[in-house]
Amino acid sequence: MCGIFGLVSARERQDLGAILVEAGQRLAYRGYDSVGCATVNGAGVIDLRKDVGRVAEVSERLRLDQMRGQRGIVQLRWATFGAPSHRNAQPHLDCDGDMVGAHNGNVVNNVQLQDRLVRQGHTLRGTNDGETCVHAVEHHFDRNGGDMVDAIRQAYDDLAGDYALLITHCDENRLYAIKKGSGLVAGLGPDFTCASSDLPSILPLTRTVLRVHDGEILVLSPEGVRIIQVDTGQEVDREPVEITESMESVTKGGYPHFMLKEIHEQPTAAAELLHLLDQSVHVDRFLEILRASEPVFLVGCGTSYHACLLGAYYLNQIAGRLTVPMLPGQFITRAAGSVGARAAAVFVSQSGETKDVLNAVKVARSRACRTLGVLNVIGSTLTHASETYLPLACGYEISVPATKTFMNQALLFLYLAYRLADRDPAALDAVPGLLESTIAVTDAPARRVAETLAAWDELYYLGYGITEPIALEGALKLKEITYTHCEGIFSAEFKHGPLSAVRAGYPVTFFTAPDDVDMMINHVNEVTCREGRAIAVAQDNDVLRSNVQDYLAVPPSDPWVFPLLATIPAQLVSYYASVARGFDPDFPRNLSKTLTVD
Ligand code: M6R
Repeated sequence: MCGIFGLVSARERQDLGAILVEAGQRLAYRGYDSVGCATVNGAGVIDLRKDVGRVAEVSERLRLDQMRGQRGIVQLRWATFGAPSHRNAQPHLDCDGDMVGAHNGNVVNNVQLQDRLVRQGHTLRGTNDGETCVHAVEHHFDRNGGDMVDAIRQAYDDLAGDYALLITHCDENRLYAIKKGSGLVAGLGPDFTCASSDLPSILPLTRTVLRVHDGEILVLSPEGVRIIQVDTGQEVDREPVEITESMESVTKGGYPHFMLKEIHEQPTAAAELLHLLDQSVHVDRFLEILRASEPVFLVGCGTSYHACLLGAYYLNQIAGRLTVPMLPGQFITRAAGSVGARAAAVFVSQSGETKDVLNAVKVARSRACRTLGVLNVIGSTLTHASETYLPLACGYEISVPATKTFMNQALLFLYLAYRLADRDPAALDAVPGLLESTIAVTDAPARRVAETLAAWDELYYLGYGITEPIALEGALKLKEITYTHCEGIFSAEFKHGPLSAVRAGYPVTFFTAPDDVDMMINHVNEVTCREGRAIAVAQDNDVLRSNVQDYLAVPPSDPWVFPLLATIPAQLVSYYASVARGFDPDFPRNLSKTLTVD
């Protein structure tokens, strides 16, 4: 997820570069692969410096902190359109170098717009959609006699997708910003104003902020901020607000922990992923390799492995492709000996740095097996080690327990299965809204179930068929952050041994897909007739409800989407149980977000 910040001051500032670098550092938690700053001085001279790398190293190399001027923009780029590179790093200049701007988000018609702009005579230096935004504004500016607001209003209609843009022209001491689906907030200081994709980069400068809504343009000058509606051109009157929360609470978006914040970010992350996949040229390449290969392995560790398990169900049941989910060590010891150039392995890793996974990639490559990556951190080792990769587009996941990255891994496999089966993936556009309503309806019941579970030190989560991966994932999440032992198993296996754990009040959780209710009622009764307590995670179903003690009902959906929705109450139960037991779910003991050791 990219981040942007811009400031316009009444005077030439010697410390402008230092302010931009500090704002960049505060945006860094969102994750990024390149950094850039543009400043404009009183004479209208634009100084643009940018490159691939971390804020501190790029700053040291290009002396970003020594940049001066009256106004400036800093951008941290998380590559989606166009590889991480100097020319795709933001900010971007327009054709004649008198405008500079940077964006945050995705312009989904980027390829078509770039073609059109090139035909109209524009010189584009890279493939990044932020550059497209700048040229789209320039295009209208050159035709309307130099009116920035009017040019931005027209460019807004050209640019499809969710984004926020900051842009300035060298002749005016103003910054312009637009918000369309991505975060944007403005700050008001004594002799400056500023705007950013998120609050933490503004708060060290001022606590007086203006909220911005989608479809609004900001005109920032040292004296104040004007808000103009894109559709009517009318000015909006809005009172600024004073921010009183601590910086820590603001960084967590007002949530007590990153984990809860990241659970709530899932609908947005899912929408971003679907946009991205619809536009990405890499998807076709990926599908081409999957179509041409046999067998196909899905390889990952921990939560990423559970996404592989679910992915294997999707690819098998929807697309009729036999895919084999494996842990990296299993791939090396059980499969690698017999794979060759006909085989493909999809390596799934949030961090892209997990050593077990990289070991398996190495072995796969040595056998000429096709290597594909699914990862969240662009620029990670897996991006280079795989032939081609698909990004998860989740932004930075700070909390050690993986939540939004699991959701997007699973959704990505569902999308690929639809494409392989020649089904229209537009059917998945309902997923973000369903995730949102699932969070809303399961939050309170999940909190109650968490109180029940928090009293036990060993538990079982059961799934049947397509919900087995969710039972395993829910159990892992619970173990990871509550330090309770929880085993996730195929529900039909429970009677073959673990059933002996059941006694009065013993809670067993059943993840039940709509088509498996009848089967699951048998498994539920094996527990309840021995005085156990059955908890169901399912779509609403009267018969199932009458057989269990607690019910976490998720909204009705397509059966393939059900496992995604059922994941949410599992995440929430773990989160609330961890808090109830007095632990910090974000940083569980002994664990690390990125495991680069064997
Ligand atoms: O970065 P990766 O996806 O390769 O990480 C794999 C596991 O270490 C990770 O999923 C771990 O299981 C999570 N912390 C679980 O929430």
